[in-house]
Order: sequence, then structure tokens, then C-alpha cells
Amino acid sequence: MSVMRISPRRLHLLLLRWYGSHGRDLPWRRTRDPYRILLSEIMLQQTQVSRVLMLYPKFLRTYPSIRKLASAKPSEVIIAWRGMGYNRRALYLHRCAQAIVEEGGGRFPRDPERLRSLPGIGRYTANAVASSAFRLPLAIVDTNVRRVISRVQGRHLTEEAVWKNAQRLLPVRHAYEWNQALMDLGAMICIAHDPRCAECPLRTVCPSAHRVKRPLTRVVREPGREGVPNRIFRGRIVEYLRQRKRGASSSLIAREVVPSLRPGEMPWFARLIRSLEADGLVRVVRCGRSERVSLAA
Ligand code: ADE
Repeated sequence: MSVMRISPRRLHLLLLRWYGSHGRDLPWRRTRDPYRILLSEIMLQQTQVSRVLMLYPKFLRTYPSIRKLASAKPSEVIIAWRGMGYNRRALYLHRCAQAIVEEGGGRFPRDPERLRSLPGIGRYTANAVASSAFRLPLAIVDTNVRRVISRVQGRHLTEEAVWKNAQRLLPVRHAYEWNQALMDLGAMICIAHDPRCAECPLRTVCPSAHRVKRPLTRVVREPGREGVPNRIFRGRIVEYLRQRKRGASSSLIAREVVPSLRPGEMPWFARLIRSLEADGLVRVVRCGRSERVSLAA
């Protein structure tokens, strides 16, 4: 069965009613400030809601406005990003704030196409800001929403098809609540493993209800060292530099961050430093055979 046979009105009624009583009360749902919404969306991209809830207020105390953020140094923003992980997001957010201040005097564009042209903003983030801050009727598709839509459709959908379906299903007058409701359903009920179909408001209309097989887990091996992904070592190097504002030689960082490093592994460590430099997270000043590494200025 496909969702074409389910009345969209019925779907809207069931999910929006559930959201009214079960939706989460989250701080970024209590504002229409596009800066606060953008910040939450960037944080939520790769960090769990529970952690974002702890760190979001502190970041906002440090940078209460887009102008304050834009005028900070990248190293300060990386320090304020502490605990969030995936530090590159802090730099993109900072560049995005600078572009908004330079191009619009601090006023966000409302047009999702223009939002998308900003550094680090893709279709998801542009639509999330436009939907939440400006209440434009635009669908947003993240991992949770993708899963809910595919299950309600009763089949696996390509990325493009999910976006199309999400937009088609959107109730234009309640688009914002609908988007948030889909996210909450995906996060709390329509979860990847063992979905809680018995508690789902869509169980009477969803063709996948009680029929989801355990997804085959694909083990994606990340490059790393002794089972620890390089991503973790990159995070540890940035964390070390957060504490040492003036930086350190890369050999000292190597000894302190990876005490068990063997001499033959120095090229691996040098590649990590190089990748952080290429991403703009650290600055490397070379002097003869040694190099001094610090957070990007
Ligand atoms: N994940 C991404 N955006 C979210 C939002 N607005 N609420 C809850 N979880 C989210």
C-alpha cells in the first residue's frame, strides 16, 4: 500500500493531534529568531538532543546575537563549541554569521535559495530556518523524517523521492508543527531499531506498522588507529589546543594526545594535523623541521 491511498487529511489530523500532546518542549521551539534556530539546527546535525540541550544555552550566553558571533575570532568560537564535537561546524557557523552580517547587515535572507548560498547551509538547514523562523511551507528531511516517510509510504525511497513526498505531504497551514512532529515521531516512536508501533499515532494507517524487520546493520569502517577513528583523534587534538591557547609543537601534541604513538606512526599523525589545517581549524607555523600548531586565529 502506498500513502496515496491514505488520506493526507487523516494523516495530518493523527500526527498533529499526537504532537499537541506528546511533542517535546525544546528551547529552539520557543523562538522565531533565525539565529537561534540556525544555531540549534547546526548543533543538532551531528549531536544528540540531550547534549545540545546542555550546551545551547551556554553558547548563546557567549554569543547572544549573530553580530556578536560574526565579530568573534574563529579560535574563540572553536573554544565555545567545546563538548559538541565535529568542530568544523563551528567554523562554518562562524563564516555563515560573517556572511549574513556582511551581506545583509545581520538580517537573515528569508528566501531558502539565498539561505542555501550561505557557507555550510544545505537544503535541510535552509528549509529548517525558513520553516521555523519565517514559517514558510517547506518540508525538511533529516534521517528521522526520511525513515518516517519511507515507512509511511511502505517502500524504500531515493533521497530525491523522499524530499518530493515530504513536500507533497506538507499541510500548508500547519507546516511548522508538521515538520517538528515528524522529527519527534522519528526520534521517539518510529525509531530505526524496534520501532514502537503499538504507541504510534499512525499505526492504523501506516503500511509498515508492526512489519518493520530489523535493518541489516552495515559496518562502515572509518579510517583510524587501533580501532579508534581518526575523527576522534582530530577532536582530541582540538581539545588539547583549546587548553593551550598559545599552541604547541606538533611533536609535543603527538606525545600528549597519543602517548602510545610509535615512531613509524608520525606520518599518520602529521596527516591528521594537515587535515585540521586544511579544514581551517588549526594554524601551523613551520620553522625548519619543527612546526607549531595552534587553534585557527
Ligand atoms: N533535530 C533537528 N532539528 C530538530 C528540531 N527542530 N527539533 C528536534 N530535533 C531536531
